[in-house]
Amino acid sequence: MPTSKHESGKSPKVLIPEVKLQARLTELAHEIAADYRGKEITAICILKGSFIFFADIIRKLDQPVVCEFLGVSSYGNRKVTSGEVKVTLDINEPLEGKHVIVFEDIVDSGLTLSYILNMIKTRQPASLRCCSLLMKPDSMKVDVDVDYVGFKIGNEFVIGYGLDYAGAYRGLPYIGYLEHDH
Ligand code: IMP
Repeated sequence: MPTSKHESGKSPKVLIPEVKLQARLTELAHEIAADYRGKEITAICILKGSFIFFADIIRKLDQPVVCEFLGVSSYGNRKVTSGEVKVTLDINEPLEGKHVIVFEDIVDSGLTLSYILNMIKTRQPASLRCCSLLMKPDSMKVDVDVDYVGFKIGNEFVIGYGLDYAGAYRGLPYIGYLEHDH
């Protein structure tokens, strides 16, 4: 059961329920589809955390979408960013001349997204935008424009719907948080 004890033995609480997530994804997809009418989108899924969000939102877009996957890691098993971004899986296809949208799970300090956008810019896409399911505006440390934002949340550490804590909880169908967690 989604709200029962999970891998670490802690009970997740629901922050954003599944129905609300899906409704917001439909709105975001409509916005994106309207902005990219008649264009092919190269959609980049940032692994690992974005895989569920990505799979759901690209199925709601009604134009041609080419999917690419970029693996990055910045947290290790901790809850605070190290500030160092490591590419664990690169995109082998050229991005030059493509209309690229980066799909990120969550923007916290903004360091990861900023690193990714700078890296992709060097590959000379025709256009580059980003979409993040979640954003923690009070935690931002760098100035990065997020073109499409699903939900703005507080500083709490969240899990589920692709997001993990030390590798666990990615399979929860909702965005949750852990109580009594230090
Ligand atoms: P940033 O570089 O601080 O913006 O962190 C972005 C990355 O850290 C995200 O792509 C997530 O993988 C991870 N992250 C940040 N906040 C959370 C959270 O609350 N839960 C799970 N992962 C998070």
